[in-house]
Amino acid sequence: MKFFVDTADVAAIRELNDLGMVDGVTTNPSLILKSGRNILEVTKEICDMVSGPVSAEVVASEAKEMIAEGLHLAQIAPNIAVKVPLTWDGLTACKALASEGHKVNVTLCFSPAQALLAAKAGASFISPFIGRLDDIHLDGLDLIEDIRVIYDNYDYRTEILAASIRSVNHVIDCAKIGADVVTAPPAIIKAMANHVLTDKGLEQFNSDWAKTGQKIL
Ligand code: G3P
Repeated sequence: MKFFVDTADVAAIRELNDLGMVDGVTTNPSLILKSGRNILEVTKEICDMVSGPVSAEVVASEAKEMIAEGLHLAQIAPNIAVKVPLTWDGLTACKALASEGHKVNVTLCFSPAQALLAAKAGASFISPFIGRLDDIHLDGLDLIEDIRVIYDNYDYRTEILAASIRSVNHVIDCAKIGADVVTAPPAIIKAMANHVLTDKGLEQFNSDWAKTGQKIL
């Protein structure tokens, strides 16, 4: 499973990237706001650091402007994936940008029907938002399962990029279902290393080791 980091925090990306945990990065207008950085500058910095796809999102609402913004964002670096929203205009922009050889990530997907349209429009990635469906008492993981079945039935190559990840369990459930990618905040990727029994076991080892009076170095 590929891990994308869902942030525009350069230091956080670098820490995970140095450990080989980063296969790509996703950003959006809210994450750019949170970073306090200029979109073009921070995106370029991330693209220079990470070899995999870096999603940068358009903000226009009409296809023509989305395409213009997407082409501008794509000039930042060869590993840019242009992110467009799952609207009819977004699908139009997806088709146009994908036809010119650009990677497109179609975001804000909340239904299997939307995901099917994105695949037909040539999206490289579809971003179903799990957490936001859970927030309104629907099941985000059901959506991942449905898209997996549909894409496999027809051999669509669009990668399922599970987004709006809120927990370690989300990551593991997506891996079990067979999502191609999860994009998660850095804190969730780091939290995957935690287990209460690891902490307890280490405490015991440290206590017993102290009693031996030995040193390794
Ligand atoms: O990749 C999309 C993601 O950033 C949305 O996450 O937690 O704002 O729903 P969230």
